[in-house]
Amino acid sequence: MKRIAIMTSGGDSPGMNPAIRSVTRTALSLGLEVMGIQNGYQGLLDNEFLPLTALRVSGMNRHGGTFLQTSRCLEFRTPEGQQKGIANLRAQKIDGLVVIGGDGSLRGALELHKQGVPVIGLPGTIDNDIYGTEMGIGVDTALNTIITLVDMIKNTAASHRRCFVIEVMGRGSGYLSIMTTISTGSQVAVVPEFRVNMKSIIEVLHHRFHNNHNNSVIIVAEGVCSGEEFVRRLNEAGQGKIEQEVRLTVLGHVQRGGVPTHFDRLLASRMGEMAVLALTQGERGVMVGQTNGRMQLRDLEDILGKRKDLPADAIRVARNLGIEIGDVAE
Ligand code: ADP
Ligand code: F6P
Repeated sequence: MKRIAIMTSGGDSPGMNPAIRSVTRTALSLGLEVMGIQNGYQGLLDNEFLPLTALRVSGMNRHGGTFLQTSRCLEFRTPEGQQKGIANLRAQKIDGLVVIGGDGSLRGALELHKQGVPVIGLPGTIDNDIYGTEMGIGVDTALNTIITLVDMIKNTAASHRRCFVIEVMGRGSGYLSIMTTISTGSQVAVVPEFRVNMKSIIEVLHHRFHNNHNNSVIIVAEGVCSGEEFVRRLNEAGQGKIEQEVRLTVLGHVQRGGVPTHFDRLLASRMGEMAVLALTQGERGVMVGQTNGRMQLRDLEDILGKRKDLPADAIRVARNLGIEIGDVAE
């Protein structure tokens, strides 16, 4: 193995830059050459290769986003697109590839692996929806950003006796929603893993209003519905029963930005290092995941076929703290 490549793909996440730095520095110290592929799978098809040096990745631990840039690329989903990508990798004499991204990007990596490209995946997504790792790169930073913003909104909720509905990201997962609700002391987590119980939510608001808690916060995961739709349904079901004004804040892409936290820098550094060691040791078609705090290699095909559940202890803690999270879906 002489030359490896690295790319970021799909939604960006804070910690991708530290991961690129770690892969690059580890590879260089093992005597390998490193090429960055710019703009995800689209850049692979467009031949956007960039030689990476120790200097080029210097200082990257403290930058959010991904300096290699990222994309969503329809063409790469097709067999023809994948063939084109493989031909470009061969022309650049790439002996191994590290892909950092969410489940879609890792599916792309699996396709490359099946067609003979030595690939290692790293979980880079704020949603924390990838089976086989306790944490994805970027989740911790996103949660810290979200709780800072929710704490701020709570000032206004308290001052104005309002109920705030706050929409957070999570295309198919309620992880950000439930963790935010616990950490900010909010009252309701609306998550795709459970059936929304509007009647209970209205009772929570009503009970609090009459028991010296005249403000409430509901954290809605976008995977259930938009915050706007949730407020519409809440107001409709709560007519005459909700005494306070319900207001909406959609946090949006601020959740994906910002300076990576210590946790994400360390996770990205450990995962990046492990990815290069694994490649040089002949591992292929695997993702570096974290289990009980330790780095482990997990088979890509296996993990992509499984759904990651919300952590059971988080559900228990939420329920024991009196958080309304809905009913178990049949
Ligand atoms: P994320 O990686 O954040 O989940 P996407 O789901 O948008 O983001 O996936 C990123 C890119 O990965 C897609 O635009 C596409 O190029 C590639 N990809 C996704 N799914 C597949 C698949 N099943 N086969 C091949 N490539 C895929
Ligand atoms: O995959 C992460 C994620 O943040 C999802 O929660 C969200 O639905 C999606 O990306 C939005 O991405 P974009 O707006 O960049 O297409």
